[in-house]
Amino acid sequence: MSSEGFGRVNRLHHEVFNDKNERRFVGSIESTMRLELLRLAEKDANAYCNICWAAFNDAFMGLMYPNGYTESARAWAKGSLLEDRQENPDRNRIMKVIDHDLPESDSNGKVIGIGYWKFYTQERTQADLDAEDKKSEEKGHPPDCNVALLDEFHGNIDKYKREILGRQPYVLLNVLAVLPEYHRKGVGGMLIKEGLQQADQLGLQSYLEASPMGRALYQRMGYEQVREFEFDARKWGLDRDLPHVCMLRPAQVANGQS
Ligand SMILES: CC(C)(COP(=O)(O)OP(=O)(O)OC[C@H]1O[C@@H](n2cnc3c(N)ncnc32)[C@H](O)[C@@H]1OP(=O)(O)O)[C@@H](O)C(=O)NCCC(=O)NCCS
Repeated sequence: MSSEGFGRVNRLHHEVFNDKNERRFVGSIESTMRLELLRLAEKDANAYCNICWAAFNDAFMGLMYPNGYTESARAWAKGSLLEDRQENPDRNRIMKVIDHDLPESDSNGKVIGIGYWKFYTQERTQADLDAEDKKSEEKGHPPDCNVALLDEFHGNIDKYKREILGRQPYVLLNVLAVLPEYHRKGVGGMLIKEGLQQADQLGLQSYLEASPMGRALYQRMGYEQVREFEFDARKWGLDRDLPHVCMLRPAQVANGQS
């Protein structure tokens, strides 16, 4: 869609997709910015990495990549993202928000925020779970990362997910990141609402591991804390605690249904 389609109205335009990946307009919220929510395209892989690094480098990603986000690490992340996106686009729904008022020369192609959702719409068998574990093991670690830290963190992520959700269907908010200069302007909320709207259409619960910065926003969106995440960031060199929590938003019952 070209930016002419927006006019100079003070609204956040919110585009969503149905389960056939067809784009349809849903709504808007008051704002002075011209924003649009779309599926992430292949050309946006670099922007995705830049936004993650900008959002997380002073916290988890800084610990994960103690020597910075190297070219090899970025290339690995881009490859992994594009593989996910291509392999199972219905499960791996990766969204972006673009700011139409940024110049054409913007280094992130006007992308200012990303939200990566995973839709597990059916109950999985033990064999499905084992296959997922095997795939993630084969994928290995990104280059130049702190392997011990990642193993501990992801080990906990997997353990808690299995304890809390077992084989149940659910929607995972896998990554949410907004460029720091755009924080507190509604971009994160826009990305969350989009995924939850899709989850609600399918009658699915949603789960995530919340960073300290995300927790209050997730609570406002209906997620509840279901357990604390054991992670000692100081042990890995951070100068402060980084208390993550596991949060679950129950499946919403549509109006008129019991
Ligand atoms: C969490 C995050 C995605 C929210 O995006 P956003 O566009 O700022 O979100 P919204 O504008 O819709 O909502 C704003 C709320 O987010 C939280 N928030 C956003 N920026 C924050 C900041 N710098 N410090 C503390 N909380 C912040 C607050 O709860 C805020 O509400 P408030 O202004 O009433 O306090 C964004 O801050 C971010 O990318 N943070 C770093 C990465 C991260 O922690 N991601 C979440 C992983 S689980």
